[in-house]
Amino acid sequence: MTILVTGATGNVGRQVVRELLARGHAVRALTRDPSRGGLPDGVEVATGDLAIPDSVAPALDGVTAMHLITFDGGNGAALSTGPQIARLAAKAGVRRVTMLWSGEPGPVEEAVAAEGLPWTTLQPQEFMANALLWTDSVRTEGVVREPFGATRSAMIHEADIGAVAARTLTEDGHVGKEYVMTGPEVLDVPQKLAILGRALGREIRFVELTERQARERMREAGASPEAIDHVIGWYADPPEEAYTVSSTVERILGRPARTFAQWARENADAFR
Ligand SMILES: NC(=O)c1ccc[n+]([C@@H]2O[C@H](COP(=O)([O-])OP(=O)(O)OC[C@H]3O[C@@H](n4cnc5c(N)ncnc54)[C@H](OP(=O)(O)O)[C@@H]3O)[C@@H](O)[C@H]2O)c1
Repeated sequence: MTILVTGATGNVGRQVVRELLARGHAVRALTRDPSRGGLPDGVEVATGDLAIPDSVAPALDGVTAMHLITFDGGNGAALSTGPQIARLAAKAGVRRVTMLWSGEPGPVEEAVAAEGLPWTTLQPQEFMANALLWTDSVRTEGVVREPFGATRSAMIHEADIGAVAARTLTEDGHVGKEYVMTGPEVLDVPQKLAILGRALGREIRFVELTERQARERMREAGASPEAIDHVIGWYADPPEEAYTVSSTVERILGRPARTFAQWARENADAFR
């Protein structure tokens, strides 16, 4: 029984791979560029691009369960090849699919359900890994610049998403479920920076940007107008699920969700 993990080199997929290997499963990791490396020993690496379904067909050979991302990497756009990927998966004999949503249910979720594949959607809210966007300014200036400092969210540790995905792919009782997932505490930006600062042993200054400045910064970084609207809209007025602690992680893993303090300790070197 081989489990295919797509997005395996990403924040979440990497953790899905790690967790499945730790639980003794045979894991095949999909990447568009195997030369980049970084996948752990013991994983079988497969090359394929979800946007080109035929390129993924060989990676599905002998696969019984699959973790599926729902975007194609191009500026956060939804994966438009969901129907073809779902058909290939069904044909290959895949009997369980977890889908990492892209912030709202989309065409991939619809396609997988339409194909009759037993699915579970993972609906994490804000990833703790988003804090990695702050590494440069923290390292060089001890500063974080963001808009909407008062916006609160219960960020989730990527390892918890990976652990829930692994259980969902390999245990019974999860089919047809939509798992809203958060971390254990609701924090605003200054509170997040205080926690990060404690892990680094230095104070981090917060400079609040106006919405206009934040939009400009994203434009300069090459974000599309749609992506800018999406991100700014989310931080200006996040969905209630993002600032309401969910019990999903604790219920499925039988232990509390990891804290941002733990994430900050684990990732401190990236900010030094
Ligand atoms: N950041 C958040 O707070 C948040 C919250 C909820 C949901 N999400 C969703 O989470 C997803 C991002 O997850 P992440 O942060 O783990 O990813 P990530 O670190 O941005 O990495 C992207 C992964 O997707 C793979 N990928 C992209 N396009 C691909 C394609 N066409 N074919 C095959 N593989 C492809 C990449 O693989 P290779 O480059 O190796 O091919 C890589 O492993 C997005 O859908 C986002 O909307 C994010």
